[in-house]
Formats: sequence, C-alpha cells, structure tokens
Amino acid sequence: MSHISGQRILLHKDVPMNDFHSLETIAIDDYLSRGGYKGLSKALGELNPGDIIEEVKKSGLRGRGGAGFPTGKKWELVAAASGDKKYLCCNASEGEPGTFKDRTLIRSNPHQLIEGIAIASYAIGAGKAYIYISEKYDREISILEKGLREAKERGYLGEKIPESEFSLNIEIKKCPDKYVAGEETAMMEVIEGRPAKPWQKPPYYPANKGLYGMPTLVNNTETLSNIPHIISNGGDWFSKIGSPKSPGTFIFTLTGDVKNPGIYELSPGTSLRELIYNYGKGLKNGMVFNAAFPGGPSNSPVTEAQLDTLLDFDSLKGIGSGLGSASVIILGDSTCIADTVLGFSRFFMEESCGQCPPCQMGTVKLFRLLQKIEDGNGDMNDLTNIENTCSFLKGQVVYCHLLKGAINSVEGAVKNFKDEFESHVHEKKCIYKAESTLIKT
Ligand SMILES: Cc1cc2nc3c(=O)[nH]c(=O)nc-3n(C[C@H](O)[C@H](O)[C@H](O)COP(=O)(O)O)c2cc1C
Repeated sequence: MSHISGQRILLHKDVPMNDFHSLETIAIDDYLSRGGYKGLSKALGELNPGDIIEEVKKSGLRGRGGAGFPTGKKWELVAAASGDKKYLCCNASEGEPGTFKDRTLIRSNPHQLIEGIAIASYAIGAGKAYIYISEKYDREISILEKGLREAKERGYLGEKIPESEFSLNIEIKKCPDKYVAGEETAMMEVIEGRPAKPWQKPPYYPANKGLYGMPTLVNNTETLSNIPHIISNGGDWFSKIGSPKSPGTFIFTLTGDVKNPGIYELSPGTSLRELIYNYGKGLKNGMVFNAAFPGGPSNSPVTEAQLDTLLDFDSLKGIGSGLGSASVIILGDSTCIADTVLGFSRFFMEESCGQCPPCQMGTVKLFRLLQKIEDGNGDMNDLTNIENTCSFLKGQVVYCHLLKGAINSVEGAVKNFKDEFESHVHEKKCIYKAESTLIKT
C-alpha cells in the first residue's frame, strides 16, 4: 500500500465544507474569522435541541464511520432515550487500513470538530463528550488538547457556555491500536477501562444503554465535522450537495498504485474513474488498472468494467461493494490481487478479538487457504473451499461486523478476479513474484 504524500485538494471551492485543506493547523482566531463557532452560537441562541435534530435530519447526512447510518435519526433516538445523563463519543480511532481522513481533519481544523461535538451534545442533552482517538496520533492529540483549551478560554466549552444554560466538558480518551477498538461498543468498554471487546447486540445499543448504562451518541470525526456547516447554512443547503441519497462531500483517502495518492474531498456525484484518473493522475510506473477496493479491505473489489460507478453508498452497494470509510485502494496489473487479499485476511485474523468462534476460526481458515494459493500450493478444491467458507460464515451470528469485512474482500476478489486465483493454482506459483522464491517442487 502506498504512503500518503499529503495532498489535500479542495475541489468544491464554493462549498466551504470540512475546512481541512490547510497544511497548517487553523488557530482559533483564524477559525473565528472564517465564521467559526457561529453554528454553535446559532444553535444555543436561536434553536432548541429538537430544531437542531430536524435540521440534521433534513440535511440527509449519513455517518462517515462506515455504515452510512442517517445521522439525524441516530440523534433523535439518543435524544428520546431516557437516562439521568447522556454522553457523546466522537470516534477518531481510524483503524481501517488506508484511511487517514479523521487524522487530517483534526490536524488541520480541530475547532471545526469541537464545534460539531458541542452542537451535537446540546442537541441530544449530553454534558460530557469524549474524543476517542488512536494512541498513535500523538500530534493530533496535542492539537486537540490545545484546541480544547482555547475553546474553553473563549467560552465555547465549560460551565454555562455564554448566553445559554448549556455546559459541556470534552475529554480525550486514547484508543488502543487495534481495529476492533473502533467498533462502537468496544469503544464503550475501553472508555470504561476494560479491554476492547464488542458487545452482543441486541439487547443493548449505545443509543439506549451505552456508556455507564446511559444513552450515548457515537459519531465519526468526519460526520461531526460536517455539523457546524449544516447548522450555519441549513439542512436544505447541505441536502443539495452531491447526490440526494448520499448528500454532502466525502473525504476519500486514495492509495495504492496511483501516481498522485492523497486525501480528496469530493462530492458523491464523482465516479471511481474520475477519482483515479483526474485526481490520482492515473496508474503509476506504466501500470494498467486492474482492481479497486473502493471501501477499503472491508468491501469487495471492483473491476475495470465498473469504473464508472459513482462513489456513494447506494451506487457501490448496487454493484456488490461498499463505500465504508472511503479508503480507496487501487491495484495495477503488476500487483497481485491474491497477495493483496491475503494481506487483508492476515489483518482481519490478527485483529479478531476472539470472542466469537466463527470470526476467530473463520478468519484463520480464510487466511490459510489464501496463503496456500498465493504460495502456489493450492488446488481448485481450495478455491471452492474459500467460496463455501465465505457462504457459511455469512450465516453465522457474531457480535460485530469485523467478520463481514473479512468475508467481503475475499469473496469479492475470488468472484470478480477468479482467473487470477486460478492462474496461481495452474501455474503453481504467483506470477507477480520472483520464481526462485515461490516455485514449489
Ligand atoms: C471492527 C469495526 C471497526 C470500526 N472502526 C471504526 C473506526 O475506526 N472509526 C469509526 O468512525 N467507526 C468505526 N466503526 C463503526 C462504529 O462502530 C460506528 O458505527 C461509527 O463510529 C458510527 O459513526 P457514524 O454514524 O458517524 O458513521 C467500526 C466498526 C467495526 C465493526
């Protein structure tokens, strides 16, 4: 996987969404001069919590953490749930390989996120919020600490925020460097001081019985960073950007075999082809496009024939893939897809928390079968075994979606690129690697 070189390109100059396009961190005075914290002032001064939730519902915003759940609907559930206290958790754990958007948003514009958290907390009635951020993100943690101090000094956080009765305390909570720790109920466990293990759901969901048994709103960093813009400009304004079913902009992390990898904010009316060729500048090292994982390792890869698919939740779902957290990984014709999927399956195997036997055993089985094929030791029965294992695992009850992600990439790769897996079987080697290391006698 290639390394992000740090390009950040604002493609919608007329849409001041997700103001993350500066390489420097935007300081509070700069943020204020750009209209920052006006959304919070409007929310506290002119709107009641119900009005804010209506505005977010009207916007059509869907969560950017992977599942695309309607944000306004989630807020409404938490606001309606009964509990002595309510909490908000901003998910900045960013464990999906190939995603760097949350870190970029925080590094460039921490106040946009803090303002979004404050508005959301007011709307659902939370007096305490957590920013749950990867322990690896030292620089972003320092930026957030400074941002929280500044916001408090200027009266945007703390006891009785001026001109309101609303009080809010935001705490930073470090997240272990584990993919499963980003799952929302594993997050509750970590915040309460226990190991990162997802809950069985139902009966309890964060919205009705989350942190410390209280209703809790969990939203991704990008989701919350959109909120100040929605409240300042109105839900109708937001709903008209991009496509009606996936409005707003999305922040894509483009990696892999492209000449110009980077983080691109685009509207969902953009096709995968445009992202790769217009913004990514095409394939590097003279390679020809072979495959793309438009939703990272947790979603099925797509083929050349599917390149004109629009990058939104429903269009990608329509072709059997998914947008996930918009980690778009491109493979040229000299990169082995079997080896790539083997790497993904190793990741899922190592990240499975071990609570659910189908996940623990299924991820090991998929990894071993793929390893056999990649090493040139597999036969056609192994390929059938992979397909059957995926079908079987899909029917199993597990606590979270980690297993589903592990299945998606393997099943999709074997279905859409079967000839490449078969060639490993027939050739008894991976043709992309030096023969001396792989030919088995
Ligand atoms: C294994 C696993 C890992 C996850 N990792 C993340 C993550 O790193 N960041 C994130 O925002 N959501 C992650 N999620 C999704 C969260 O559980 C949750 O749905 C999301 O934070 C809700 O935010 P949204 O409604 O704004 O999308 C993960 C889910 C699973 C199953």
